[in-house]
Amino acid sequence: MKIGGRHYRTIWLSDDGWSVEVIDQTKLPHRFETVALKSCEDAARAILTMQVRGAPLIGVTAAYGLCMALREDASDEAMDRAIEYLAKQRPTAINLRWALEEMRKAIRNLPRELRVEAAYKRAAELADEDAETCRLIGVHGLSLIKEIAARKKPGEPVNVLTHCNAGWLACVDWGTATSPIYQAHDAGIPVHVWVDETRPRNQGASLTAFELGSHGVPHTIVVDNAGGHLMQSGKVDICIVGTDRVTANGDVANKIGTYLKALAAKDNNVPFYVALPYSTIDWTLEDGRSIPIEERSADEVLKMPGRLPDGSVVTVEIAAPGSPAGNPAFDVTPARLVTGFITERGIAPATREGLLSLYPERKDA
Ligand code: MRU
Repeated sequence: MKIGGRHYRTIWLSDDGWSVEVIDQTKLPHRFETVALKSCEDAARAILTMQVRGAPLIGVTAAYGLCMALREDASDEAMDRAIEYLAKQRPTAINLRWALEEMRKAIRNLPRELRVEAAYKRAAELADEDAETCRLIGVHGLSLIKEIAARKKPGEPVNVLTHCNAGWLACVDWGTATSPIYQAHDAGIPVHVWVDETRPRNQGASLTAFELGSHGVPHTIVVDNAGGHLMQSGKVDICIVGTDRVTANGDVANKIGTYLKALAAKDNNVPFYVALPYSTIDWTLEDGRSIPIEERSADEVLKMPGRLPDGSVVTVEIAAPGSPAGNPAFDVTPARLVTGFITERGIAPATREGLLSLYPERKDA
């Protein structure tokens, strides 16, 4: 997608041919900075500190982290160690482990001297595949937005509510939840997005709003608690969110607060869709109860970064001194609250059967 008229992906190979550059998402929206990752440790730190974040992007970053580890040592032991180390940086998004397993499959049977080249090739494929997968999610999701637009008066926008950032910054390009929105906007269909600010790290206010604004998509940032009221008032036509892990029965892990939006959507008959690539499905888990939920630092709740009028960015404390804070980063929305999945293969109900109708090859897996 474009920033200042220039096309960017969220991760790309540097001119040296082996290190990678990423957009430092901890600096957005106040500063647009890129950072070079020159080792497996750099990649792991970028994932842990959320310089890169979002399920598909952390997978691709880890894939390149593994490439850099293999440049140092391409033995089986080193490969296994690097995969474990990268995978444990964030526990909830299955794409991280999925991408590392894809890498393992591509290199494990090769002699050592061929592994580095094969690893870089597979990492580049994973990046390209993610971009194309997200584009296709948009093609399918666009049909939902078109249906709603057809029921509206000419020029009246389709109001989409989204949570967190499941945009191109969370992926390699396009985004999952945002891809249908970008494609509708580009097709001339009026869309307006309610952007949940998404406390505590404000991925909505800082990242989704930044993306949509850069692309010229009309949007309004709202506090996380506003969604229910907006739905009751008839101001939301459809919710579209991303996900970090979908289990075999269709339960959905996503950024904390997603579940409450799904409850409000159900109560108000607002369709609630989850956009995802196949790499987000964890076929090994029967339901969402066993998804590991990342618990992050209390500081993310107790402090908040922001820009002062002089342009400097500072972090301030926002809570009563001495109070402890809890910070579960994800929640699980039961499949029964999800209207459907938007995937690169089409749209299906959020059920085991719905998933298998899209991925029939998993029936015998
Ligand atoms: O903690 P984050 O910012 O990595 O969480 C990201 C989300 O919850 C996204 O909505 C999810 O990864 C889907 S990304 C296409």
